[in-house]
This record gives sequence, structure tokens and C-alpha cells, in this order.
Amino acid sequence: MRRKLAAGNWKMHGTGADLAEIATLARTHADPACEVLICPPATLIERAAREVRGSALMIGAQDCHSAPQGAHTGDISAAMIRDAGAGHVILGHSERRQDHAETSAVVHAKATAALHAGLITIICLGETLADRERGATLDVIGQQLAGSTPDAARGENTVIAYEPVWAIGSGHVAHPDQIAEVHGFLRERLAHRFGTGVAAMIRLLYGGSVKPANAAGIFAIPDVDGALVGGASLRAESFSPVISALE
Ligand code: G3P
Repeated sequence: MRRKLAAGNWKMHGTGADLAEIATLARTHADPACEVLICPPATLIERAAREVRGSALMIGAQDCHSAPQGAHTGDISAAMIRDAGAGHVILGHSERRQDHAETSAVVHAKATAALHAGLITIICLGETLADRERGATLDVIGQQLAGSTPDAARGENTVIAYEPVWAIGSGHVAHPDQIAEVHGFLRERLAHRFGTGVAAMIRLLYGGSVKPANAAGIFAIPDVDGALVGGASLRAESFSPVISALE
């Protein structure tokens, strides 16, 4: 069975004072029935990892470089992330695909490096509003999945997050039928490539305006194994009910 996962992506939010939110979550969800992951900015990974030590909470990063080391000013390698105490890394988020011109080939190279370093990857994909309006959603998703996911992907090392770009930070959560269609398509594409056994173990998260008020409804959709949450993950009081909806 796939273990449900509630993942928080803090994006470029948070300083040391916000570690208290993580401490509160670790206390409130001491024995969660699902996995709980927080991906703070890189500056907080080490302190966040210290904060969750001895608890069920896990810490992840939001990006890594594809090279193991080298002349890449400002970048962070997968091994450095691991060394700082994180076990997961978000890759190919639409904000990175847009702001840093990351192609699926780049995401693939980063995911390969992350798997090599022993990190669990959360590979993000999603269509823009323009893609959806021209009826290209599944084409775009299919290409991003095929291009971004390494052959070594397995249930224990890879999570796929479907985040429609138009639903991120907009308050417009995708309709359950839209989520069900894409998640069903992703499961089917994974089965085609990796076999049904592997596909059945890879978790599929939904991301895009997930909030306490809509979480239970989203989690009831077939093939939704959890959520990648942005804004609502920043405060324990809003992330905690999302976690509880998954338990
Ligand atoms: O990675 C999570 C994200 O992009 C969704 O953000 O703020 O809409 O939950 P938000």
C-alpha cells in the first residue's frame, strides 16, 4: 500500500523564528498515520532537521544541482542537502521551470543526481492555463513525466506531484474531475513505462491551493496519495488540519 504523504513547500519563506512552526507540528503529530514532510528554504534545512530529530517529521529541500560538486556559484548539490539532514528534494517545480528556464531534461539530470545521493525526489509537473485551454493538458503532463523521470524511479525513491500552474497560489483548486483525470493518466503512464507493480507504489500528490477547507475532498479522489502544499504549510495551524485530513 502507498503511504499517504503531506508535504509542505515553504518556497522562499521563513527564517529562524519560523522553526517554531515545525516544532509545533512535530509535537502535534507525534505519531502520524501518514508521512509528514517540510521543505524549508535551504538556509533552514540544517536547523529544521535538528528540530525534528526524534520525531516522525521529515525535512526536504526545494531544489538541487545536477553535478556532484564544482564551479557552480550559489548552487547546492544533492550530497550537500543530504549532509544538512534532508532526505527529500522537490524538483521541477513550475516556479523553477518558469523562473530558471528548467527543462524536463534539466529536471531529469537533477533527479538522477538526487537518487544517486540517496535522496527521495518529488518531481513536479503541471499544465499552464493556456495548455489546458488548448486541450493539451495530458500531452504536456505526459511529456514532462517522460522527460523528467529517471529510469531508476521506484516507489521508495520517487514521488510525482501534479500541480496545475493556474491553481498554484491562486485560490482556484482544480476540480476533482480534473485531478482524477490527470492522476489516472499519470498512473497509467507510469505502468506503461515501469510496469504495474512499480506504478502502484509511486505516490501521486496534488498541489495547488490545498487548504484545510478543501483537503478532505481532494484526498478522497482516487489516485491522490497526498498533497504538496505551499501557503497553507507555512503555519502549523493551517498545515496541521491538512495533515489530519490525510490520516
Ligand atoms: O509546491 C506547492 C505549491 O506550488 C502550491 O502552492 O500556495 O497553492 O498551496 P499553494
